Amino acid sequence: VYHTPELTPTHDLPDCAVVIDVLRATTTISTALNAGAEAVQAFSSLEQLLEVSSTWLPEKRLLAGERGGAKVEGCDLGNSPLDCSPELVQGKRLFISTTNGTRALQRVEQSHTVLAAALINRKTIVSYLLEKNPSTVWLLGSGWQGGYSLEDAVCAGAIADLLMQHQDNIEIGNDEVIAARALYTQWQNNLLEMFHKCSHGQRLLGLNCHEDLKYCAQTDFLDILPIQKEPGVLIKG
Ligand code: MLT
Repeated sequence: VYHTPELTPTHDLPDCAVVIDVLRATTTISTALNAGAEAVQAFSSLEQLLEVSSTWLPEKRLLAGERGGAKVEGCDLGNSPLDCSPELVQGKRLFISTTNGTRALQRVEQSHTVLAAALINRKTIVSYLLEKNPSTVWLLGSGWQGGYSLEDAVCAGAIADLLMQHQDNIEIGNDEVIAARALYTQWQNNLLEMFHKCSHGQRLLGLNCHEDLKYCAQTDFLDILPIQKEPGVLIKG
């Protein structure tokens, strides 16, 4: 049963939570793991990130902090997927805290399975779901400070659309899934244009992140499955 729960808050947890923050946390997490990061450990609080990461050897860790789209002072990185080169991240653990994406991950970290999804790894996420066939799935958009984000809904719709192309009897849990798929159908050939119109895309353009938007719009570009190994820690599946 597929739900996109952001408009219908619930305290239950699904069998499988697919966390989406296309701009940019889940795109960055996917890129870092694809580039050889040993793991990505996500925190909603920066204080906690600093505390936990301080127990790691400096050469084995990277700190990524973002608030309001901008890099947090004192961190090695902000939240740009373009910074996650193999030269930089290979063999290291990325400790990351972002405005919304890492909070969404924390919200569902007690679910049986947690995946981080973006447009760049949509196909790999869908293959996993088709193979494992979890009983309930949330396509959880991270949104912006508790509100709705168009780009996350479009990505949820992109996942639902590909699933339905492969399996026509998937059970739809709420109307948000149908709405998300309709939004994806509307924007699928103009994803970059959609990023330029949506509020967080506008915010990132104001921070000169044009290249990030182009990168995040690439669909089915990386074959990487970020999957939670223990609460808050994602590895390559
Ligand atoms: C977030 O977690 O809100 C985002 O990924 C923000 C960003 O674009 O850095």
